Amino acid sequence: MKIKLFKGDITQLKVDAIVNAANSSLLGGGGVDGAIHRVAGSELLKECKTLKGCLTGEAKITKAYKLPCKHVIHTVGPIWKNGQNNEAKLLKSCYKESLKLADKNKLESIAFPNISTGVYGYPKEEAAKIAVKAIKKRSEKLKHVRQITFCVFDDTNYKLYLDLLKDIL
Ligand code: APR
Repeated sequence: MKIKLFKGDITQLKVDAIVNAANSSLLGGGGVDGAIHRVAGSELLKECKTLKGCLTGEAKITKAYKLPCKHVIHTVGPIWKNGQNNEAKLLKSCYKESLKLADKNKLESIAFPNISTGVYGYPKEEAAKIAVKAIKKRSEKLKHVRQITFCVFDDTNYKLYLDLLKDIL
């Protein structure tokens, strides 16, 4: 399994699937969700409308349309309240379900943004630890996924992930 750390815009990545930090309506929004829909074009929203939403912690897959990748895996992260509302379990589930869906679709490469750490307010350090632990735990059990990229958008996250991944990058 190849683990990569990329700092920049996830919509540019030519991987089999990029993961979208969506909301439960799957009808677009700001942040990475907004960027993905902007680049993919209106066909993505049209397909998302057929999915009838997505529960927090779950994941659904669509085509990628005008994006350079092949698929978008939409997952809904938890909104951070105080850490006593199952936030950690739900965030872990986003990574687990997205990997499961990628493997089921025989995808070989997937890129994750820092789910829930923007609008949803999840503390970056906690979220990064959950993300890396979830990926490390599952990466050897996957049949098809061969490359997992953590796509960070700011220096804080870059430093956090670099430190957490230094033994496996
Ligand atoms: N590429 C990679 N990462 C990005 C990009 C991008 N183009 N744009 C933003 N990010 C980063 C943010 O800096 C943050 O680190 O993605 C991370 C997730 O932030 P959000 O996009 O705000 O997602 P989230 O915190 O999960 O909140 C989801 O925001 O956009 C709405 O519709 C979305 O309601 C949902 C909520």
